[in-house]
Amino acid sequence: MAEYALTVSIEELPNVEPVVETPDRGGPAHRMRTVTNEVASGSGWDSDRAREVGSFFDSLAPEWTAKRQDQQRNLPVVDALSRGGVELETNWLELGCGTGSATTILKPQVNNLVAVDLSAGMLAQTPPELGPFVQADASSLPFQDKQFGGVMLMNMFLFPAEIDRILDDIGWLVWVNSRAEQTPIHLSPSALVEALPGEWFGYSSRAGTGLWVTLTRKRP
Ligand SMILES: C[S@@+](CC[C@H](N)C(=O)[O-])C[C@H]1O[C@@H](n2cnc3c(N)ncnc32)[C@H](O)[C@@H]1O
Repeated sequence: MAEYALTVSIEELPNVEPVVETPDRGGPAHRMRTVTNEVASGSGWDSDRAREVGSFFDSLAPEWTAKRQDQQRNLPVVDALSRGGVELETNWLELGCGTGSATTILKPQVNNLVAVDLSAGMLAQTPPELGPFVQADASSLPFQDKQFGGVMLMNMFLFPAEIDRILDDIGWLVWVNSRAEQTPIHLSPSALVEALPGEWFGYSSRAGTGLWVTLTRKRP
C-alpha cells in the first residue's frame, strides 16, 4: 500500500470491506508477470509472443469460467465503475475480455461496448448476447484514433501506446486485478501511471480479492 502514497496523481479511496487476502499461488513468479512487465515497458511483444500467449489462453479457455465462480472476483469491477469517477455514457472497449466476466458487468452500464480478445478459444466461451466480440491483438487494434471514451482491462496486459491512441482526450482507463498483487498479469497503480505516455490522474481502491485503478489524462 505504501507505494500508492508515492503516486500523488492517484487518490486512494477507502477499501470496500471486507477486503479478502489472496493466498500466494505464485502470481509474482508467473511467466505472464514477466510478459506483463515487458509489454508495459513497450517491449517484448512480437508474433512469436502473440502465438505463445494465444495458445496458452486457448488451452485454459474450456475451464476458465467454471474455475472462477468466486463472487469476490468481480467486486473490484463493480466498485471501479461505481466509485472510480468514470464516464459510463460513452463508447467503451474491453481488452482481453476472456470469457466475459467483466463484460457482463460493464455491458449494461455503458452506451456501447466492443470486447476484444486474442484467443479464439476464450471468445468461443463468451455468452453471445454480450457481443460484439472482436478477435484482435491489443498491441495493434483495428480501431480509429480516439474512438473510445473508456477502456476496461481486467487481468490483461497494458499496451500503453495503443491505449493512448484509441482513448479520446477525456477517456478513462479502468484497470482491474482480480487477485490484487497475486494476479499474474498485475501492475501496481504507480507502475500503471509510469507506463502510460503523458500525465494521468485517477483513483484506486480494493474490493473483494482484487484491486482497481481508474485513470484519465490530466487536463491543461
Ligand atoms: C488472464 S486472462 C483474463 C480474462 C478476463 N479478463 C478475466 O479476467 O476473466 C487474459 C486475457 O487476455 C487475452 N489477451 C492476452 N494478450 C492479448 C492481446 N495481445 N490482445 C488481446 N487479448 C489478449 C487472453 O487471451 C486472455 O483471454
